Amino acid sequence: MITIREVSAYVGKEVTIGVWMYNKRSSGKIQFLQLRDGTGTIQGVLVRNQVAPEIWDEAKLLTMESSLYVTGTIRQDDRAPSGFELDVTSVKTIQVAEEYPIAKKEHGTDFLMDHRHLWIRSARQVAILRVRAEIIRAIQVFLDQNGFTLVDPPILTPSSCEGTTDLFHTKYFDEDAYLSQTGQLYAEAAAMALNRVYSFGPTFRAEKSKTRRHLIEFWMIEPEMAFVDHERSLEYQEQMLEFVAQSVLQNCPTELQTLERDISKLEKIKAPFPRITYDEAIELLHREGFEDIQWGEDFGSPHETKIAESFDKPVFITHYPTEIKSFYMKPDPERPEVVLCADLIAPEGYGEIIGGSQRIDDPELLVERYEEHSLSKETYAWYLDLRKYGSVPHSGFGLGLERTVAWICGLDHVRESIPFPRMLNRLYP
Ligand code: 4AD
Ligand code: MG
Repeated sequence: MITIREVSAYVGKEVTIGVWMYNKRSSGKIQFLQLRDGTGTIQGVLVRNQVAPEIWDEAKLLTMESSLYVTGTIRQDDRAPSGFELDVTSVKTIQVAEEYPIAKKEHGTDFLMDHRHLWIRSARQVAILRVRAEIIRAIQVFLDQNGFTLVDPPILTPSSCEGTTDLFHTKYFDEDAYLSQTGQLYAEAAAMALNRVYSFGPTFRAEKSKTRRHLIEFWMIEPEMAFVDHERSLEYQEQMLEFVAQSVLQNCPTELQTLERDISKLEKIKAPFPRITYDEAIELLHREGFEDIQWGEDFGSPHETKIAESFDKPVFITHYPTEIKSFYMKPDPERPEVVLCADLIAPEGYGEIIGGSQRIDDPELLVERYEEHSLSKETYAWYLDLRKYGSVPHSGFGLGLERTVAWICGLDHVRESIPFPRMLNRLYP
């Protein structure tokens, strides 16, 4: 048995493939079976007077999404979308499917989301999931080539990192526990052990935001680097994204075609990316009609989209006000009212895909921050230890996988960028 992906090596040979039928046309003398196996699609051609009558009749009973083993000879056919067709000699039904709920007609989003377990079989969703896998692979190759070691942080944690407003609470026997918002604090500990590390796993935010960029459960890649400052961290970020874009262009051309992605947009993702400071971003916004935004306020989606429009590559916004950023970020030594941080804003309105910073390495300043942010000294004692026993300058960043997938694939909404999205008011399927 082979898969459809491999048919080019079997031209003129008889093969058997395990498939689902996604469509069928019949002329009375010929049945055209549109077959998919997840690795590709191929048309099977069944000619009435060339097969046994029971084979013809069996094929006639096949409904949409029925499963079967199909046997036939591979023929090269330049008119076929895949370049090949299958002259069917035999079919062996595994199951005749019940009437398939996702028919050819247009469905609303709610209906599709309720049937996500079936929806992922469609050509477009298959293409997205393949690009997602390629993005993960490319990131891991890039980090591996640059000497990063994968470390797995815990999911159940005793504390928050990115603020307490969107924490998922649970009981841990008699203690309180929270689902991890980020692996960062643990990645920092690991960087002091292994130098360049990254974590890759699911993270959770009970955010009550219902936007096309927010998920409740999303995956993050978080590199953390000892002896690396803010500037050098930005270079890793832009090089990594260039590598990702080039890998997808090279390894997923058919998927990008299925998604009708404008390739020219992806070809522009080349390092270096432009950098502007938060102050410059505020000025830009004032010039572009957002007169109301004041220094010290955080950017919303419309602001990010407007800033991104001025560039045809992703853009770093650096040096945000200390007030609006996380407790662990290192202040700029020349201007302590801003921190050594950057958000990377993707083009085409996809918003922030990376958040990163240099971390505080001075134990005294960290203790001050604990007090300002009302963080318990006991809960965060271990994190302070990292600054007591051989503290070093270090930096890291977190890339949101689903936003990156949505951007690379050109999707309208992050809900299609993950197999089973967890969103506000959606836990099914
Ligand atoms: O900017 P964030 O909150 O940064 C951190 O969590 C840091 N601890 C990362 C680090 O320095 N190691 O989140 C990082 C990225 C965002 O830029 C965004 O791409 C993604 O995670 N993200 C979300 N993606 C989907 N749904 C959400 N609700 C997201 N929240 C953040
Ligand atoms: Mg952020």
